[in-house]
Amino acid sequence: MNKVPVLVTGGAGYIGSHAVLALEDAGWPVAVIDDLSNGSREAVPPDVPFYEGNIADRALVERILGEQRTQAIMHFAGSIVVPESVEHPLKYYANNTLASHALISAAVAAGVKHILFSSTAATYGAPERVPIDEDDPKIPINPYGASKLMTERMLEDAAAAHPFNYGALRYFNVAGADPEGRAGQRGKGATHLIKIACEAAVGKRGHIAVYGTDYPTRDGTCIRDYIHVSDLAEAHVAALGWLVEHPAENLVMNCGYGKGLSVLEVLDAVDKANGSPLERIMEGRRAGDPPELVAGNARLTSTLGWRPKFADIDIIVGDALRWERKLLERMAPAAS
Ligand code: UFG
Repeated sequence: MNKVPVLVTGGAGYIGSHAVLALEDAGWPVAVIDDLSNGSREAVPPDVPFYEGNIADRALVERILGEQRTQAIMHFAGSIVVPESVEHPLKYYANNTLASHALISAAVAAGVKHILFSSTAATYGAPERVPIDEDDPKIPINPYGASKLMTERMLEDAAAAHPFNYGALRYFNVAGADPEGRAGQRGKGATHLIKIACEAAVGKRGHIAVYGTDYPTRDGTCIRDYIHVSDLAEAHVAALGWLVEHPAENLVMNCGYGKGLSVLEVLDAVDKANGSPLERIMEGRRAGDPPELVAGNARLTSTLGWRPKFADIDIIVGDALRWERKLLERMAPAAS
């Protein structure tokens, strides 16, 4: 396998930083661009070339691609919060769709050969059936999903017209932290269920809100397919290898375990890992939430030969909680 130089956009963020570790572990040369709007400089290993800046800055991106002799891009940079996208849709079209347009344009001009894009299950909207297959209808119900679907479409059209191939990985709910404790979710103003529940478990929050208990699901709360971030990072490395080895083909695939858990089931796992129950407050539905998202993952397993190592909610929650405790220790003032 020709391990070509890779530029990771958003490599100082949650998923991007785990992908950087997985790429380095597998021996790929890596560089990172991140504007640190949500990422953190310490999340990038010191030996990885780091550029602080926005992917919409075309002159900067073209300079990096030249300096690093980049042949592949893993593109994570973007805005990721579903309810925020409902409130601020134009931010999402700017940060996700327009910024990706600038990045793809720079990549085409510089002759980049492979682009692997962070897409999302939110591209499907509220699916009629689960598990969801990649070819099922894509009718996003929030601007976040729409902004990502537009980028997929740009990549499809651009890859047909220019000499590069692309992959789009549609993530389901990403959670957990590097099992070796090297990385985890930092981010300011967390919104994701497991992150928030872990913050509550370590005392950073007083309670956990459950958004919606009247969904047509087994216990009335939303069902999601939670995937460990390190399994997802491995899927990226495998997908990039596949793109390098199949330069005339593209890859679009779901990334999930094919198993759904309700909000209450996830909170039970957090209570178990924590050893004591969190206070749960039942609230109304949150804008933009589909009732149930579960991945059909046959493409991921058959095309890439990917096998998850951490497909267990107790492992996901355990790693997330360990990371949250570590963050808390770092914040605590040194004992005198
Ligand atoms: N939830 C709560 N309380 C909270 C936070 C979340 O009840 O404090 C609920 C939500 O309402 C939802 C579920 O937990 O039902 C999961 O919510 P998250 O915010 O953790 O994640 P989302 O499902 O909204 O979104 C995530 C990613 C998207 C991706 C989507 C696909 O952020 O990028 O999963 O499943 F598209």
